[in-house]
Amino acid sequence: MNDKLYIFDTTLRDGEQVPGCQLNSIEKIEVAKTLEELGVDIIEAGFPISSPGDFQSVTQISKAVSEPIVCALTRAVEKDIDVAAEALKFARRGRIHTGIGTSYYHIHLKLKSNEDEIIERAVKAVKYARNLIDDVEFYAEDAGRTDNVYLAKVVEAVIKAGATVINIPDTTGYCLPHEYGEKIKFLKENVKNIDKAILSTHCHNDLGMATANSLEGVLNGARQVEVTINGIGERAGNTSLEEVVMAIKSHKELKIETGINTKGIYKTSKMISSLMNMPVQPNKAIVGRNAFAHSSGIHQDGVLKNRENYEIISPEEVGIDTSSIDLTARSGRAALKHRLALLGYEFNKEKLDLIYEDFIILADKRKDINDSDLKKIIGVKEDKNLHRIKLVNLQVLSGNSTIPTATITLDINGDEVTKTAIGNGPLDASTKAIKNIVHSKFILEEFLIQAITKGSDDVGKVHVQISYKGKYFYGFSSNSDIITASVEALIDALNKII
Ligand code: KIV
Ligand code: ZN
Repeated sequence: MNDKLYIFDTTLRDGEQVPGCQLNSIEKIEVAKTLEELGVDIIEAGFPISSPGDFQSVTQISKAVSEPIVCALTRAVEKDIDVAAEALKFARRGRIHTGIGTSYYHIHLKLKSNEDEIIERAVKAVKYARNLIDDVEFYAEDAGRTDNVYLAKVVEAVIKAGATVINIPDTTGYCLPHEYGEKIKFLKENVKNIDKAILSTHCHNDLGMATANSLEGVLNGARQVEVTINGIGERAGNTSLEEVVMAIKSHKELKIETGINTKGIYKTSKMISSLMNMPVQPNKAIVGRNAFAHSSGIHQDGVLKNRENYEIISPEEVGIDTSSIDLTARSGRAALKHRLALLGYEFNKEKLDLIYEDFIILADKRKDINDSDLKKIIGVKEDKNLHRIKLVNLQVLSGNSTIPTATITLDINGDEVTKTAIGNGPLDASTKAIKNIVHSKFILEEFLIQAITKGSDDVGKVHVQISYKGKYFYGFSSNSDIITASVEALIDALNKII
C-alpha cells in the first residue's frame, strides 16, 4: 500500500502575507472552499492574533469547510495561543501551529535568548496549546540553518510535550536539497520519540529549490508538505502545491500518494492568481500558460503522433482543456464562441454580440481573460435565468438633494412584483425594496465592493454575505454599475436560501 502524504496548504497564511495579495474575508472563504474541493488535508487559515481580520477569517473558514483540518498560526506566546483556540472554536477539526526560532541567528540575534531557554519556551507553548486542542503542530523557525544536533533536542522535547506534527521550515530558502533531506533523515534516526509525530517540510524558494527541498524531505521520511497554490509567498515564495503533487503523482515508483484531486489544480491556480492579483509566470511548471504549449514544429509533430513523446503529464490531468485558446483583446467572436461552447454555453448571434462587447471592454483592461472572468461576464446575462428570483428592473434616485429611492421589479417564479422604498443611501433603499418584495427578514452582514482593474469606467465586483435564520449565504455579481452589481449580488445570495 502507498504511503499518504498530507498536503498542508498555507496560501491563506504564508501566501497571503505578500504585500498586494491580501484578500477580504469573503474571498478567503471562496478560496478555502476551493481548497477543500481540491482535497487538501490542512488549510492554514491565518494568524489570528495578528489582526481582527485574520481572527474573523479563521473563524469563518472554520465554519465554511468541514473536511480539511483548519490550522491557525501563533508564536510561542500564551496570548497568541488563547486567541487561536478561540478563532478555531467552530472548526470540526482544528490545529494550532505554534513555534519559535531555533537557529543561532534567531536565538541570539533576534530573541536575545539561549538554547536552553528556547527549549523551555517551546515546551511550555506546546503544553499550553495541548490543553486547549488535541492537534498541535510545532515549527522550529529557521530550522534550515539550525544545527541538527540541537534541532533534534528541540524536536524530542516538543514531541514529549504533546506536539503531533513537527514542521522543519527552511525559512530563508537557504538549504541545498541534499542538506535538507539529510536534516529530515537525521531527525528520523536520532529523535527517539519521532514515531509519535509526523514530520513536515516547509520550504521557501529563495534559491529556486523549494520543490526540490520538499521532495528530498519526503524521500527521507517527511509525510506532510507545506505548500501554496502557484508557490506564492514571501519573497521568492513557498513550495508550490501543484509541483509537489504532480511530481509525486508522476513518480509512481515512490509509492506515495496525496489526496489531491489533480483535475482541480488549474482552476484553483487561476482563481488564486486572479483574486490575489499575482500573475503566473508563463513558463511556470504545471500551471503556466506555456506549460503544455508546444511551439516548435518538431515538438508539435511529435505530440500529434503521440502525446507522451514530449509530455510527461497530460494537461487534462490538471484540469487544462487542451483545446483552450488564450483569449485576449485581439480574440475574435469565433474564439469567444468556441471557449463559451467548451464551458457549455451556446448563444445566438444577437446575445453573442452583446457578450462580445462586454468581453472586449474587460479584455482591453487585462492581458488575458480566463474562464471565471467569462462566467462573470455571461453570468450577469445568462446564469441568473436558472434562478427563481430574477431582477427585471431597477431604478434608483440618489444625490445630495434627493431622498435616496429605489424602485425594483423582481420576477419570482414567473410573477413580477414591483416595490419602492427609501433609505439612507441607494443601496439601503434597494435592500429595503427587495425585502418588501420577498418578505424575508434576511440581514445584510457584509458588503464588499472592489474594482476589477482601475479607473472610473471599471467593472465593480460585489460580494455580499447575508444571514437568514442563523445561516450564512454568499452572493456575488459584477457590473459596471455598482448599484446594479450590489442588487444582483443580493439576489444571488437570496437564491441560495431558496
Ligand atoms: O517560513 C517559516 O518559518 C514560517 C513559519 C512561521 C512556519 O512560515
Ligand atoms: Zn514560511
